Amino acid sequence: MTERPDAALIETTLAAVANAGIDIRHALFERFLSAYPNRHSAFLNLDAASRRMTDETLQILFGLATDEGWVWPLVAELVVTHRNYGALLADEYDAFIDLTIDELGRAAGRTWTGAHAAAWLRQGEILKAMIRRALAEWESAMPGGRAAAPA
Ligand code: HEM
Repeated sequence: MTERPDAALIETTLAAVANAGIDIRHALFERFLSAYPNRHSAFLNLDAASRRMTDETLQILFGLATDEGWVWPLVAELVVTHRNYGALLADEYDAFIDLTIDELGRAAGRTWTGAHAAAWLRQGEILKAMIRRALAEWESAMPGGRAAAPA
């Protein structure tokens, strides 16, 4: 058990959702794709992608709360590989993170308190800022998705 307060709150939520046997990805993707219907066709295998996207988002948010060094390289990589799926905007990532946290809150039931919400939202904001930084850095290194020509 970690001593970091957000990590402890996040672990409580994850345990509560697991005990409730709720797989949040179904409602999460239904809500996400009804907000961004044009993205539906980018998902060639929605079942597989919804598992991986949901799991990875939760791992990253927990990893941020425990100060894991692998988070930034993973986020930087996911942002560049996601360029294969279209020109995704920071707002879309924000919405995915917000909806993930909202669905966790619904699934966690009575264990979801203001402190739990605040812990998730704090890490969510850190992740949103990291994604913006990765988008900007890749755009400057590879404008429009292409490697910049050597000077
Ligand atoms: C915190 C945010 C996100 C995380 C952690 C995440 C993670 C992942 C992971 C792990 C995969 C599996 C394969 C791969 O690594 O490329 C994936 C696939 C994918 N993601 Fe995301 N993702 C995020 C946000 C988004 C957003 C905002 C979109 C917008 C539409 C998106 C669209 C896709 C698509 C289209 C695929 C491929 C689906 C397929 O081939 O069926 N992702 N994502």
